[in-house]
Amino acid sequence: MNKNPFDLNNKTILVTGSTAGIGKAIALGCSNMGANVIVTGRNLSRLEETFSDLQLEKNNKYILADLLNDEDLDNLVEELPVLDGIVFNAGIVKTVPVSFIKKQQIQEVFDVNFTSSVILIQKILRKKKIIKGGAVCFISSVASNYVNLGNSIYSASKGAVNSFTKALALELAPKNIRVNAILPGFIETKILENSGIDKEAISKHLDNYPMGKFGKPEDIANAAVFLMSDASQWITGSLITVDGGYSIK
Ligand SMILES: NC(=O)c1ccc[n+]([C@@H]2O[C@H](COP(=O)([O-])OP(=O)(O)OC[C@H]3O[C@@H](n4cnc5c(N)ncnc54)[C@H](OP(=O)(O)O)[C@@H]3O)[C@@H](O)[C@H]2O)c1
Repeated sequence: MNKNPFDLNNKTILVTGSTAGIGKAIALGCSNMGANVIVTGRNLSRLEETFSDLQLEKNNKYILADLLNDEDLDNLVEELPVLDGIVFNAGIVKTVPVSFIKKQQIQEVFDVNFTSSVILIQKILRKKKIIKGGAVCFISSVASNYVNLGNSIYSASKGAVNSFTKALALELAPKNIRVNAILPGFIETKILENSGIDKEAISKHLDNYPMGKFGKPEDIANAAVFLMSDASQWITGSLITVDGGYSIK
């Protein structure tokens, strides 16, 4: 019998930022498809909660780590088993008009959304903790191409993720490691709570969605499961938009 190409049994997958929102849905999605899942984030109780929702019989693991802390990054890599797949999902939003941006805000957004992923994949590659034939997926954003007022640093950080995705895909292609990014449209999660965007602006934003609805974390998780699976074995260097038609126009 042919193996289901979407099956993740016998694969071990790391998901960063898996204590909430999209990352949590990706962790659960990979787990439901049979993967051993390594979850990581800063908040211990939410990390334990995600961990306890994973399929029990698997070799799952949780590792507490702040991606902005060098020691935590080293410890995370040390504790990792050899991986078949990585989803770089952790991210933050800061909404501030260009005239008011402080250097520290640029640094914080880029450090979480971009730099920490670059450093982490570098450490993982050096320690040979991803197999040849593995898969890497970055969670970028449609905001990298379709900008909104006040969101310049966030958009720029995700633009950097898109370029890095392609460059890394080229570099790792000889090892048969695939590297892709998902560009989600608006997904209702807690990310906007500290962003400065008000609820009225969000409900007005719905007018830009031709299907009349925002996405759910599971909509992104399903795309990530596909990119972690053998079903996508000839896809690399791709930026895959999942946005309910937001970017059609
Ligand atoms: N929601 C959307 O509309 C949307 C649209 C496009 C793209 N995205 C992207 O999707 C990804 C997930 O977003 P979300 O909406 O699910 O956000 P969320 O609910 O706020 O979750 C963000 C995750 O990132 C983790 N995180 C943040 N800073 C971290 C740090 N310094 N170290 C380690 N982990 C950190 C958080 O974990 P702890 O709090 O435990 O540290 C949390 O698990 C982000 O990259 C975001 O840019 C979201």
